[in-house]
Amino acid sequence: MSKITAAITGVQGYLPDYVLTNDELSKIVETSDEWITSRTGIKERRIMKDGASSDMAVGAVEGLLKKTNTRPEDVDLVILATVTPDYPFPSTANVLCDKLGMTNAWGYDLIAACSGFIYGLATGSQFIETGRYKKVIVVGVDKMSSIIDYEDRTTCIIFGDGAGAVMLEPNEDGLGVQDFILKSDGSGREYLVQPGGGSLNPTSIETIEKRMHFVRQEGKQVFKFAVTNMAEVSAEIMEKNNLTSDDVDWLVPHQANLRIIDATAKRMGLPEEKVMINIQKYGNTTAGTLPLCLWDYEKQLKKGDKLILSAFGGGFTWGSVYLKWAYNS
Ligand code: UT7
Repeated sequence: MSKITAAITGVQGYLPDYVLTNDELSKIVETSDEWITSRTGIKERRIMKDGASSDMAVGAVEGLLKKTNTRPEDVDLVILATVTPDYPFPSTANVLCDKLGMTNAWGYDLIAACSGFIYGLATGSQFIETGRYKKVIVVGVDKMSSIIDYEDRTTCIIFGDGAGAVMLEPNEDGLGVQDFILKSDGSGREYLVQPGGGSLNPTSIETIEKRMHFVRQEGKQVFKFAVTNMAEVSAEIMEKNNLTSDDVDWLVPHQANLRIIDATAKRMGLPEEKVMINIQKYGNTTAGTLPLCLWDYEKQLKKGDKLILSAFGGGFTWGSVYLKWAYNS
């Protein structure tokens, strides 16, 4: 019997309606469309005015179930990557399963910031490869607007809200997840962190007055680590799998900054037409960026295409997944 691999058999995104443009942001903080566009590549991002992360996840997964002809009760496992869960507990995966009637599934939330989706894809694929499960959903969702300080121009211009989800199913033709390299370095936690609200600094009037419930980022430091590590791990997975730049059909990069994406593509020797980019429309949706890229480019993907998904984010966490696309849409 041939080896079972975990193939993506469908992808679906969800974006809230409200569009926050660079021009609108420049009325809130001292910035400009020119600065944001030239430093990050972002033109606008979506904001969830009402509702929680689970509502965006519902939007994505509802569509995914329909698209893949899956009954909610047939789903085995839901892995939901987020840094903006509905509550500290219970998990947003639990909430999602309840809202969509996935009554036979269990699930959990996964915190790996911007690398959340690839961590989820790598772990979810193991449950398929072992033969234990037939339908695993991996969701990347973040309502970054709930933890962003709209008085801090260095962070509020970058982030947006959004969700994406994929279905993983067994494949016996060698398609799907081929390999992954995942890394972390907790000494980077001081550079990109939400300092308040956890067990270290439980919410108090003082933590709120010090604005510790918002994201803090030392952009320059994070940029430096992101450029190097995302590019290196992407090159590493190519070498490990004997892939040349001609072999790779698509780079699916985390959408944090266009300059980081360009550096990664350059290190891999890929021309820009092989790089998925939607940062101009959605900004950095943290765990949402990679499935949202797959969703936006789904129609251009062909069965057998070789994709490298790469990310770098808070933690620090980073890594790459190499997969073969499993269907034509
Ligand atoms: O997804 C998770 C991982 N996160 C990332 O990968 C983000 C990595 N970092 C970045 O993308 C970039 O560092 C930023 C986009 C956050 C900032 O860009 P930068 O080119 O690194 O700018 P900078 O922090 O070096 O700041 C340059 C100047 C500073 O002014 P001075 O000190 O040179 O006078 C900032 O105060 O730009 C100023 N500045 C702004 N000006 C207008 C910072 N933010 C803004 C702003 N509008 N929004």
